[in-house]
Amino acid sequence: MCGIIARIGTDDAVPSLLSGLSNLEYRGYDSAGIALLNGHGLEVLKREGEIDRLLERVSRRAPSAETGIGHTRWSTHGPPTDVNAHPHTDCTGTLAVVHNGIIENHDALRARLEAAGHGFESDTDTEVIPHLIEEHLSAGRSTEEAFHAAIDELSGSYAIAMVHEDEQAIYAARNGSPMVLGIAEDALFVASDVPAFLEFTDRVVYLEDGHAVRATSEEYTITDGDGVVHRPVRTVDWTAEAAEKGGYDHYMRKEIHEQPTALRQILECHSSGEGLPDLDSAFLDGIREVQFVACGTSYHAALYGEYVATERGIPASTHLASEYATHARPVSEGTLVVAVTQSGETADTLGAIETAQRADARTLAVTNVVGSSAARVCDGALYIRAGPEIGVAATKTFSSQVVALSLFADQLAGEDSPSGPVDFGSLPGGVERVLETSRSRDIAERYRGRDAFFFIGRGVGYPVALEGALKFKEISYEHAEGFAAGELKHGPLALVTPASVVFAIFTGQDDEKLLGNVREAQTRGATVVAVTDGTNEEVLRQADDILSIPEAPPTVAGLLANVQLQLVSYHAAALLGRPIDKPRNLAKSVTVE
Ligand code: F6R
Repeated sequence: MCGIIARIGTDDAVPSLLSGLSNLEYRGYDSAGIALLNGHGLEVLKREGEIDRLLERVSRRAPSAETGIGHTRWSTHGPPTDVNAHPHTDCTGTLAVVHNGIIENHDALRARLEAAGHGFESDTDTEVIPHLIEEHLSAGRSTEEAFHAAIDELSGSYAIAMVHEDEQAIYAARNGSPMVLGIAEDALFVASDVPAFLEFTDRVVYLEDGHAVRATSEEYTITDGDGVVHRPVRTVDWTAEAAEKGGYDHYMRKEIHEQPTALRQILECHSSGEGLPDLDSAFLDGIREVQFVACGTSYHAALYGEYVATERGIPASTHLASEYATHARPVSEGTLVVAVTQSGETADTLGAIETAQRADARTLAVTNVVGSSAARVCDGALYIRAGPEIGVAATKTFSSQVVALSLFADQLAGEDSPSGPVDFGSLPGGVERVLETSRSRDIAERYRGRDAFFFIGRGVGYPVALEGALKFKEISYEHAEGFAAGELKHGPLALVTPASVVFAIFTGQDDEKLLGNVREAQTRGATVVAVTDGTNEEVLRQADDILSIPEAPPTVAGLLANVQLQLVSYHAAALLGRPIDKPRNLAKSVTVE
């Protein structure tokens, strides 16, 4: 969603604010701005559009300041315009606020403030915050008291940072939106996410909901409703280089190519015992049923995990997190609700965890981000250890999520399982082979301009079909849909024409039936690209084109096929000149419901 960075130190904050904003651009990229305390007062610079437009404006003015806050926006209230861009100020122009989240009672607050004479410039919910603080200041409160009093009046989700020209200090607060403190030698940072300041420090303090911070260049104080809170300082094991493009044109390409390393990492952790969730064995022994909750790509990984868990004899089901609140499956003492979320901050998924916890279910977060909200609110966390993922389209984290979930299913199934554990040993090497030999660019080029792209599969090929289509539509903006292959004839076949391309994912599960579905599509004139290991000659004969994967058991084959489809989407989008890492209307971490 939106990204926040704030910095206070003894030297110029502007370069680190700007690089922090660039590092956070994946959280939102329709406008950006900074507010600086430059020694003479408050200076606000903001621009609609990508961060480059803000950089242009900043370079013309060449400001410098020891204290500042910055924001990159993904619009929720009001279109992306200069006026709606953050930071927002009060009537006096002496304080500025950046905000991530949604203020649910902003209409009522705005009406009250307008009646008291406050004039508003923007359409945003955020703008009520500086005016509220101003209101409390004019009632004689100190900056700190006014900030706290204003926060107490807000309902909804927020991460907020504020500066006031009377003080070299940063005020921040969180409730339902992520916020982390970074502690460097010569500066303190407050940000929505660690990559914002990772090039300056790896020492962090994770803030909890209800925490507020006051930071000066020398010290910080964290408080909650009851007074001062002491939080541990942690060292993150992500490097700044891992969060950079490293010679690739796009983060997405880099992250696709990082999959062998990411997969080796999780497999090694698991074999050393470190990759297991931090849950005690009595807890695990009591689990009789697993319910997965997730969104988007993580939902597809969860569905894949469900197939693996079911094969291992574990009753499992997968639910869209956004639907879980209204349509939760009943839970019992033996139910474990597993939230699958790369960021650990997705509001829909956090909402589903809350629903599950209200019903007394036990919860586990499967996430990439140590210290994320999901990891903190669940009873346990299982880290997928994929390293930072910056491209908005999830790639390496899908593969790592599937492996993590499968290994967890093995752990739960124990000795009594009807099938043996999945052997992922050949997976990293298999992905390397796909990356080296893929014909995905040729395929993307050959079928460029077709009307529609369909993805079909059976068994684990089904979540891969859904994921293939999501990736394709998300970054190429072409019409793409994924179906369980058997469902084609129950409706979607009406969409298939000679202008359609159908990607059929052969994993060795039900291949003969899938071949039947391929013929159904070809009879309607569609071109079929088979993703296959080539061991079934009938598949090779029948398909119009082939994307090869190494021979592997179905659970591994599905992941290899997915890498081929990631590459096809990448090349299709690149050939169309799309902004691959920042697809329109989307953001990496969706912190609103
Ligand atoms: C698509 C994509 C999204 C996310 C979804 C959930 O490429 O990345 O569909 O998977 O927004 O995000 P997390 O996993 O952070 O909960």
